[in-house]
Amino acid sequence: MLATWSFSARGCNLAWPNLKFGGGALDAVCTVAREAEANSEVDSVGFGGFPDVIGRMSLDACVMLSPERCGSVCAVTRHLHVADLARLVMERTSHVMLVGEGADSFADALGMPQMELLSADARQAWERWRAGATSTRQTDQGVDSGKIFSQSSSLAPSLAPSPPSPIGEKHIPHDTVGVLAIDTHGVMAGACSTSGMPFKLAGRVGDSPIPGHGIYVDPEGGGAVATGIGEFIMGVSGSFLAVECMRRGSTPLDAVREVLQRIERRHKPLAHQQVGIIAVAPDGKWSAGALCPGFAVTIAEESGIRCIAPEFVLRQES
Ligand code: GLY
Repeated sequence: MLATWSFSARGCNLAWPNLKFGGGALDAVCTVAREAEANSEVDSVGFGGFPDVIGRMSLDACVMLSPERCGSVCAVTRHLHVADLARLVMERTSHVMLVGEGADSFADALGMPQMELLSADARQAWERWRAGATSTRQTDQGVDSGKIFSQSSSLAPSLAPSPPSPIGEKHIPHDTVGVLAIDTHGVMAGACSTSGMPFKLAGRVGDSPIPGHGIYVDPEGGGAVATGIGEFIMGVSGSFLAVECMRRGSTPLDAVREVLQRIERRHKPLAHQQVGIIAVAPDGKWSAGALCPGFAVTIAEESGIRCIAPEFVLRQES
């Protein structure tokens, strides 16, 4: 089992014993997503995530077993466990994606509990950000969330990356929890869950809930999940591209390299703009890569659970 960022370690610790002794891959990836969604210290997923420009939370998620079996929800505003909700879309409907009020109503109909998704800390971060945006004469309607990351951190102090951890991880508040697992029966599953870009325009949806962009799983090619700036990932169908590369014979390392090089070439990201991607081949071989230093991967395998830097970083620090 492989997951984005070190904050996934708690979920991997919960899911691993069951996965190791015969539990299903889909249960495992949903456990990891659920733990991040409930963790108020993770400011990019579930409760604790940062809201949109008008201070409203909206969550996106996707689960995937194969091109024929996936489920997704976007812009959920009243329910926390959106990866589970995406799974229910997959298991209980003939659709792939439910959006907004329709997704929340579906959750209501299934008896999922409603809750306030905006934490006190996230509200404070939004208020600080709003004060900074106002002082630079940006209005709510005028903020282009795609440009937030090109602003100096003085505009949005809460967006400054944290100091690097011992493994070099620099957490930025824009990080999907993405997880891929293969169970003892050989079934591969993936899940991702996010609150999206912090202070995004109302209605903005990124890559995470869209099969082929933030996540893709095809037992014949492998699985991939991306994290970081969704607009870049969507522009190159990042996860599909990684899986397609593996289907055509690339190693997971070459597949993540191809995705990141394509993003670099087409989007020309700024130095601090991050995309990370993890990829697993059907035989279990895996790799991870990122545009710039600071990404981390949690890996759960026979020898234990650890957080490591990705194998490939496109722009190494000089
Ligand atoms: N990668 C998450 C997002 O851009 O919404």
